[in-house]
Amino acid sequence: MSVDNILNRLSELKVRALQSLNGIDDIEALDSWRVDYLGRRGELTQILRGLSDLDNDDRRHVGSLANNIKSELEQSLSDHQQSLKDRELAGRTQFDVTLPGRSIDMGRLHPTTQIVREICDAFVSMGFQIAEGPEVEWDRYNFEMLNIPKDHPARDMWDTLWVDYKDNNGDTPMLLRTHTSPMQIRIMEDSEPPIRVIVPGKCYRYEATDATHEWHFYQVEGLAVGEGITFADMKGTLFEFARIMFGSDRKVRFRVDYFPFVEPGAEMAIDCFVCKGSGCRVCKNSGWIEIMGAGMVNPKVLEGVGYDSSKYTGFAFGMGPERIAMLKYGIDDIRLFYSNDMRFLRQF
Ligand code: PHE
Repeated sequence: MSVDNILNRLSELKVRALQSLNGIDDIEALDSWRVDYLGRRGELTQILRGLSDLDNDDRRHVGSLANNIKSELEQSLSDHQQSLKDRELAGRTQFDVTLPGRSIDMGRLHPTTQIVREICDAFVSMGFQIAEGPEVEWDRYNFEMLNIPKDHPARDMWDTLWVDYKDNNGDTPMLLRTHTSPMQIRIMEDSEPPIRVIVPGKCYRYEATDATHEWHFYQVEGLAVGEGITFADMKGTLFEFARIMFGSDRKVRFRVDYFPFVEPGAEMAIDCFVCKGSGCRVCKNSGWIEIMGAGMVNPKVLEGVGYDSSKYTGFAFGMGPERIAMLKYGIDDIRLFYSNDMRFLRQF
């Protein structure tokens, strides 16, 4: 190969190499460029190998030119490599480690759930167990076995949502339970005294809603059955509950009330924890707040589940946790509990 020929190839190679280098924009492609142009089997090396055919002067001349081109290409390669790296770094998301962290939205328990758990805890601390039961219930459990037969006027106390279903065994009509009391029957049918149980759960009533009425709401039911249980046991238990929930200086009041499944029946009130009895908006100036229905389990109910009512006695009670939460937190509209307004829910 003539000297001119080699010089032409060299300058053509340099132009081609630099052009192709300029078009490269990722680091991996750079490496194959290096192999192609500067590697052991690359074009420049091939040309340098061919120098052995030339005489000394020509070889020195061409050789130094080739070496210059080689170092020029090497320099361009490392410059290009650096600029690709700089560009990649600049493209990465930048963040300021001194900025304050973003707070994570924390979930929380619904106020009804909180108060139901608080009520349950109070009774668990007195040795009660917790049970739950179906919200879709038979008439038999919701009414009949609780001493509320078909045409009993007391059915008016519970406006009922009926379920359009009748099974083939000729069972009683189905409904959405209007209270948690049917669980008294289910528990007694399934077990023998002594029983100490509380039942939290949802109830439904066919009712127009207003500030103090919802068509669905919670109740917490309580039942204790055993030998020698008296009205005094009930008073002691519920008094203790009132102190746990509403403060140790609470007073309680029991007055006669009527529920077909208890006899005698009572309504329990606590002295107003807001005004301490002197009269305010919360207690409607009476000094007392009614918080639950209660009473001694009616012997008819005990006999109905096959218990010997001359041997066993018991007491039962039922309360509305939303109502208790309303009193405790000064909430004036029960509908707030189930309207999913975050401004309300965030306060608990
Ligand atoms: N189940 C009654 C109601 O819904 C409350 C109650 C329960 C009363 C147990 C007495 C005993 O009003």
